[in-house]
Amino acid sequence: MAMRNGRTQTRGYIHGYSRAEQERLAAQSRFLEPMVFSGVDFSRQTRVLEIGCGVGAQTQILLRRFPKIFVQGVDVSPAQISRARENLARPIAQGRADLRVADGERLPFADASFDGAFFCWVLEHLQKPQAVLKELRRVLKPGARVFGIEVQNESLYLYPECPAVAAYWKEYNDAQRAMGGDPCVGAKTGNLLRQAGFKDVRVCAWTRHYDQRDRLAFKRMIDYWQRLLLSVAPQLLAAGRVDQKLIREMKREHARLKSHPQGVFFYTPLKFSARR
Ligand SMILES: C[S@@+](CC[C@H](N)C(=O)[O-])C[C@H]1O[C@@H](n2cnc3c(N)ncnc32)[C@H](O)[C@@H]1O
Repeated sequence: MAMRNGRTQTRGYIHGYSRAEQERLAAQSRFLEPMVFSGVDFSRQTRVLEIGCGVGAQTQILLRRFPKIFVQGVDVSPAQISRARENLARPIAQGRADLRVADGERLPFADASFDGAFFCWVLEHLQKPQAVLKELRRVLKPGARVFGIEVQNESLYLYPECPAVAAYWKEYNDAQRAMGGDPCVGAKTGNLLRQAGFKDVRVCAWTRHYDQRDRLAFKRMIDYWQRLLLSVAPQLLAAGRVDQKLIREMKREHARLKSHPQGVFFYTPLKFSARR
């Protein structure tokens, strides 16, 4: 912990490991499944490593979509792995999955142990994403397939303007940077993969653009987004970055946005594929 600009800076994971946050991750994986898994193909793989598997939410989807694979999940947090063990009790008992507490920078596996790898909303939290990608490469077989998706938080555009959301979003992203993460890692990940030695690196800007043409989808995306933003509220409040007034105003702006005839939500995460 250190002090900067009068604020406490804590290295760690911005969303925290509360039960409510773990449930949010599960709900998020179901909501975003069509986007996250479009183009992901492990139909020729047998052993897939998932880095930063959290509570096993994406692991469950991987196992359902690709019934022949074994998934090895790793996460740096014992709390996440403990919850993932509950969520994946059946595939673990069936020998289709295994979970380990491990830092992506030091994977407890021999060279060339896997023929596939997956990461989702993880690199943004790492202080050394390059080191994790190099370590990932070490444990993959030549030709192994890698798929990933990461954030690009500066791509967010809302219309009409939402000043309270923008103020809160700035604090959210500044807090993540102060923890050593990178809320704009998405646009950099193509270079990071190439420099870590991966081949056939492909990057796709996966813009999510919602407006009143599909009112229900627009409303659902804003509800999802608000839950994401509020997931870091306890940490932002504790650090003095936001106050309850800003949070109330942010909620009012989201409510107005949903019913505004010109309302727009626009955000671009980045998707990746590569080979070892
Ligand atoms: C936003 S969660 C995403 C979890 C999962 N991929 C999903 O989409 O549901 C990011 C996860 O990365 C984990 N993580 C952060 N730093 C890590 C590291 N150095 N090595 C492994 N996991 C890490 C966190 O503990 C957290 O569970």
